Amino acid sequence: MVDQIPTLSELRTRPVAQQPLYADPAAVDAVLAELRLRPPLVFAGECDELKRRVAEVAAGRSFLLQGGDCAETFGSVTAGDIRGKLRVLLSMAVVLTYAAQVPVLKVGRIAGQYAKPRSKDTETRDGITLPSYRGDAVNGLEFVEAARRPDPHRLIEVYNHSAATLNLLRAFVTGGFADLRAVHTWNRDFVRNSDVEERYEQMTSEIERALAFMVACGVDNESLRTVDFYASHEALLLDYEHALTRIDSRTGTPYDTSAHMVWIGERTRQLDGAHVEFFRHIRNPIGIKIGPSATAEDVVELVERLDPDHEPGRLTIITRMGAGRIRSLLPPIVAAVEATGRKVAWVCDPMHGNTFETSLGYKTRAFSQVVDEVNGFFDVHEQLGTWPGGVHIELTGDDVTECVGGVGELAEADLANRYETACDPRMNRDQSLELAFVVAERLTSGRILRPNPVQEFQPEDF
Ligand code: PEP
Ligand code: CO
Repeated sequence: MVDQIPTLSELRTRPVAQQPLYADPAAVDAVLAELRLRPPLVFAGECDELKRRVAEVAAGRSFLLQGGDCAETFGSVTAGDIRGKLRVLLSMAVVLTYAAQVPVLKVGRIAGQYAKPRSKDTETRDGITLPSYRGDAVNGLEFVEAARRPDPHRLIEVYNHSAATLNLLRAFVTGGFADLRAVHTWNRDFVRNSDVEERYEQMTSEIERALAFMVACGVDNESLRTVDFYASHEALLLDYEHALTRIDSRTGTPYDTSAHMVWIGERTRQLDGAHVEFFRHIRNPIGIKIGPSATAEDVVELVERLDPDHEPGRLTIITRMGAGRIRSLLPPIVAAVEATGRKVAWVCDPMHGNTFETSLGYKTRAFSQVVDEVNGFFDVHEQLGTWPGGVHIELTGDDVTECVGGVGELAEADLANRYETACDPRMNRDQSLELAFVVAERLTSGRILRPNPVQEFQPEDF
């Protein structure tokens, strides 16, 4: 096990992608010195608990639901916004739990998702070229020179806003808001008030009966009233993540205490790069985003580098191939990683491979393509006999109009109504819940294919 963390200068001797160019290095150093003194946002013990739960996902005994904004913004750290996102995730989780009949591990893209990788360093509008928006952690979205200039003081704001968000989340999930019966009532209202009633009424009624049965049996305890919820984000800005890394006093090993789980993005997963080197040292459960350009060999090299000890729960592989390609690109990758003997959590991000621009210039995603990628993911895992471990979704609790299709049949022309994302298009509340029902249908039909099933009586055994 690797237990020392390289210094930032050591990390910077490697190729390091997607970092902001600050004008004043002394100001950056001062900010990082301040961050190093701040208390951790999460505890190492919580990260270990999450790792145990990811191990359950990898073993086919749990399903992961990871979701939230593409890019959180400081302005959206309000009680209403946080409550809305939590509510939609909990709603989805109830449906998935019922369908999968296994615990659903709930992880938000929240309380730290403030930095974005960009395909271009600059953006040009009407002949004016400015640095690209890289998330509130780096610069401002407004297309003016002063806003787009990278400002290291924003890293302190990332810490403060993440702390405020986590504080409220922790209160919500234990303070009664997550009560299973209340969550089910939201879901029932969604099904009744939308056009999907016929399709999902049966499952909603079954959940209702199951709940009533539990209450009648006297199961009315903490487990109905509280949930476990974890925070995650892409650990993109090495300065920030390094400054939040602490040595755990129990084990003497480093944890990135900016979130329970952090992931490496598709654009920063170079084997010899600084991000992989940083991730190699931290003991959190980690995610790796894998896009269509990755070969099976690339992925095997990555998992060997990042999980040399075959540690249960260490790795979640989040694939984002695109609806048209997942059925051909995913099987060799899954087969090659499984052949190394590791049990990883396989998770489908059906968002990032399915983005396109409308004729009016809106970046969007079609609900039908998102569903198609999810179905491809389930098909591949069914064929290989591996467990489709979870989904990773960009969503919000509001009624935004950013993705087309779904229950409300949003058309391209509707996108202008409430297009509010700071980065990629998110599913709104109804689209997210509808997606949960789609995934639930696949989980229900695939139940018997789950690895480690309860041993059933086989007449031919005798
Ligand atoms: C993201 O998750 O917002 C993201 C940038 O994804 P990827 O690294 O898969 O492109
Ligand atoms: Co995104």
